[in-house]
Amino acid sequence: MGKMQVVRVAIIGAGGGGLCALRHLMGPRTLKKTDGDGDHQGVQFEAVCFEQAAKVGGTWAYTDQVGRDEHGNSIHSSMYKNLKTNLPKQCMAFPDFPFHNDLPSFIGHEDVQNYLEDYADSFGILKYIQFYRQVQLVKPMHDKDSRYGLRWEVTTRSVLDPQDDGETDVYDAVLMGNGNYAIPFLPTLPGSESYEGQIVHSHNYRRPEPYRDQVVVMLGANASGQDIALELSDVAKKVYISHNKAHLQSRFPDNVKEKPGIERLDANYKITFLDNTSVNADSLILCTGYHYDYSFLAPECGIEVKDFRVTPLYKHLVNTKFPTMAVLGICKRIVPFPFFDIQVQFFRAVLEGSVVLPNEADMNEDTECDYQERLSKGRPHRYSHEMSGCMFQYLNELADMACVERIPKNYEVIYDLVAFQRKTDVMNYKKMNFALNDKGDGYVVL
Ligand SMILES: NC(=O)c1ccc[n+]([C@@H]2O[C@H](COP(=O)([O-])OP(=O)(O)OC[C@H]3O[C@@H](n4cnc5c(N)ncnc54)[C@H](OP(=O)(O)O)[C@@H]3O)[C@@H](O)[C@H]2O)c1
Ligand SMILES: *[C@@H]1O[C@H](CO)[C@@H](O)[C@H](O)[C@H]1NC(C)=O
Ligand SMILES: *[C@@H]1O[C@H](CO)[C@@H](O)[C@H](O)[C@H]1NC(C)=O
Repeated sequence: MGKMQVVRVAIIGAGGGGLCALRHLMGPRTLKKTDGDGDHQGVQFEAVCFEQAAKVGGTWAYTDQVGRDEHGNSIHSSMYKNLKTNLPKQCMAFPDFPFHNDLPSFIGHEDVQNYLEDYADSFGILKYIQFYRQVQLVKPMHDKDSRYGLRWEVTTRSVLDPQDDGETDVYDAVLMGNGNYAIPFLPTLPGSESYEGQIVHSHNYRRPEPYRDQVVVMLGANASGQDIALELSDVAKKVYISHNKAHLQSRFPDNVKEKPGIERLDANYKITFLDNTSVNADSLILCTGYHYDYSFLAPECGIEVKDFRVTPLYKHLVNTKFPTMAVLGICKRIVPFPFFDIQVQFFRAVLEGSVVLPNEADMNEDTECDYQERLSKGRPHRYSHEMSGCMFQYLNELADMACVERIPKNYEVIYDLVAFQRKTDVMNYKKMNFALNDKGDGYVVL
């Protein structure tokens, strides 16, 4: 084999995505499906991961704090005290790193945090992480002598030192795992200035106790809206789930009622819904989702976000303008860790040259086709990165292109099973426990 070429990669964030990137770039090599000898394609990675917090975990690193931390940074985690995963551990796990046997199927955020810490430890990747360093700016720079004809200037600063005006280093590639659940999306609600109740986004929700005996309206009925409504129903007088989607199929506790979306807010705690009914509510919790944030990318990077769509990305991952830049996990309705695992291995194969990407125009056309197909199925623009019903197909496609193992079929089996249970019995599905069946291709309920 010829001389190894060093490829320097800047990884942004040490949550599930960033850790997975370090594991595959710097950790022990998993054998490839086809050649079986762990061929490096003449490339040796040198990755550095920048993490603004004190520890790994990203959104899983629970904190009681909301707002800003002691260093003046916005709190990143969206975890609430009692959150349990809405996917079972059997399909949350990175395919090469199962959760502990003695954990139940649905686990607390602290179990996931411990798992990520174990993962980092087991693969010996902690040493590549620079904690308390925040990425300020990423900028492309043409460099015809470099492997890819282009390199990246990455400016970072210490969050511990307000005087620090940053340090710039040069990398061959940039992989973003900065998280997608940190910047609340706050819809404009007419009359909100007159409303006297408390308005909180689910990002800043931590525990149910402050809502004791209250009337609470939740806006948005996806994972956060439904899950927080359930835990509030134990203490609140009444909980309204206000949303614009089809009627929820699951049974809810008797003090939880559905309402259409919000028409307006008024004085006297009044909230009026789109059917012109109204309630007087002490609190309004906005479970309305999150913005993507790439504000640290210089405009020259070419990444744009318009109404929840990030472009120009090939396979929701690779910047088509500069394919040595990738963003992890922007898709919705996914199993995040297995998803990162395939995306990272695909991007690694791109950097190594074993996956040869189409040219920019063809990649953009592929992206446009995917987008148009979604629109033609009646999905709104803001669902551009939604993966309901096509996640495993997407992951299999990337795995096959990169010649790496697909996510095991049993992930899909349990994912579908749980999705059905969640939809039809949201009050009880997290009580279930599963075990792999004898054939290893399905599950038994314990
Ligand atoms: N383990 C758990 O139990 C748990 C709990 C919470 C969150 N999570 C995870 O966290 C992530 C984020 O979930 P999320 O529920 O916070 O966000 P989300 O999935 O983005 O859902 C936001 C919801 O708010 C709705 N919405 C937005 N603006 C609205 C408006 N003005 N009026 C009415 N509805 C509005 C959206 O409707 P449209 O769909 O029509 O846009 C959407 O259904 C997901 O990956 C989720 O699985 C997990
Ligand atoms: C969230 O919304 C999506 C898209 O409408 C849907 O497929 C999914 O089942 C919802 N999730 C929950 C927990 O209701
Ligand atoms: C809505 O309800 C209010 C009072 O409950 C009533 O005065 C008003 O006329 C109603 N508006 C519509 C459009 O039905």
